[in-house]
Amino acid sequence: MKTIELSPRLQAVADLVPPQTRFVDVGTDHAYLPAYLIQKGIIPSAVASDLRKGPLERARQTAERYGVTNQMSFRLGNGLERVQPEEAQTIAIAGMGGETISAILSAAPWCRLGDRTLILQPMSALPELRAWLQRSGYRILRERLCREGNTIYTIMQVAAGEMPPLTPAECWAGSRETAGSEPLRPALLEHLLARVERALAGIRHSTRPEDIPWKTELESVREGLITMQRELKQDESK
Ligand SMILES: C[S@@+](CC[C@H](N)C(=O)[O-])C[C@H]1O[C@@H](n2cnc3c(N)ncnc32)[C@H](O)[C@@H]1O
Repeated sequence: MKTIELSPRLQAVADLVPPQTRFVDVGTDHAYLPAYLIQKGIIPSAVASDLRKGPLERARQTAERYGVTNQMSFRLGNGLERVQPEEAQTIAIAGMGGETISAILSAAPWCRLGDRTLILQPMSALPELRAWLQRSGYRILRERLCREGNTIYTIMQVAAGEMPPLTPAECWAGSRETAGSEPLRPALLEHLLARVERALAGIRHSTRPEDIPWKTELESVREGLITMQRELKQDESK
């Protein structure tokens, strides 16, 4: 039997899946994630769901190739619309934009009910997603980072509940508490700081009234990121 090797990004998602839970992969595409989890015996079965027929067909082919078809169910639909709440103890939404992830969760408010774990791996709009999670009754339990090529990906483990208010910098980089002693955090902070500096350089001399709140926010993010860097260095020297 062939065994599945995951990319570092999908491996980091897999590592946050609580074992032996009823698992749903939204936007599954090739379905490597659920097929891997079943092959390894981490979960007994899975629902693989996708918006489009082509990706769902690829999911079926993967299941066939790796001998896990009988343990998988395939659903064609937007987000979680073809999934029943009782099928979903753990929900992975990976490889999509942060806005798509929040739209999928908004359309399925039952995700906040019961004892569910969400594993989210946004490709973009992380500050917006963290802010949305905060105001929508979700709590980020922990965040992990992984690197593929030049890109650092963030993977969040999320559950229903309250979290302490996030500062603008925490919306960008995650909080110190949820990041723990993540080895890639210094590299992430450096990368985000460079992005903030570029954005600020673009509007530094702008006098347009609509740029003022954005400039104020970016300055606050920059200050917060610099503080995070300083705290990390202090932690390292202890
Ligand atoms: C880039 S792939 C990611 C595949 C896999 N989850 C991963 O992380 O490698 C994104 C997949 O999400 C699907 N998708 C996009 N929007 C979706 C939605 N609203 N509901 C379900 N699937 C969606 C796309 O069809 C595509 O197959």
